Amino acid sequence: RPGAEEWVPRGATVERLRAAVDECRGCELWRDATQAVFSRGEPDARIMLVGEQPGDREDREGAPFVGPAGRVVDDALGAAGVPADGVYRTNAVKHFRFERRGKRRIHEKPGVAHVVACRPWLEEEIAAVRPEVIVALGATAARAVLGRPVTIGEVRGTVMESSDPSGTPTVVTAHPSSILRVRDETDRRAAFAQLVDDLRRAAEVTG
Ligand code: URA
Ligand code: SF4
Repeated sequence: RPGAEEWVPRGATVERLRAAVDECRGCELWRDATQAVFSRGEPDARIMLVGEQPGDREDREGAPFVGPAGRVVDDALGAAGVPADGVYRTNAVKHFRFERRGKRRIHEKPGVAHVVACRPWLEEEIAAVRPEVIVALGATAARAVLGRPVTIGEVRGTVMESSDPSGTPTVVTAHPSSILRVRDETDRRAAFAQLVDDLRRAAEVTG
């Protein structure tokens, strides 16, 4: 496997992976980021949430989903009746990709090359956590987990399989940031309700 391969310890626990990730030079994103952002949550969680990449807040705080998108996820988990502390949260790409505009850092979507480079980390996380279900939040996460491009609108809510050796049941849904960008309040509520539905579907897989 390309990219991160040589920095990823094999058969490691989540703790060892977390300790190793900041040294990764598997692609160029480490250069401008503050730090690598690994995961948050219990390593024996039944549900693994995979996002796109850390945002501005995550990059500074060193933990995933602590910004506005994380709030949406927390609210949706609550509405779906999924205990938030039973969820393991991580990202497809572990370093923040952004564009500098003056003092501001503007989120820039990671490219396919970054997703591919970073994938060995995610594969080892899946092997370490062995979740019963994975929820891919958005197209970038879906690509990382399923190993191929999918259209969210076509596959969302259906149960697929992760492309790593575990073949873990995977539910694809919209990225929480896309919900925050919906201007119309009625549409935004509908988008949020769909996220809640998809999380419920995922929770059903765990029985
Ligand atoms: N925060 C994250 O950690 N990941 C995302 O995908 C979005 C916000
Ligand atoms: Fe390594 Fe992933 Fe960071 Fe690139 S984004 S340097 S592959 S941890």
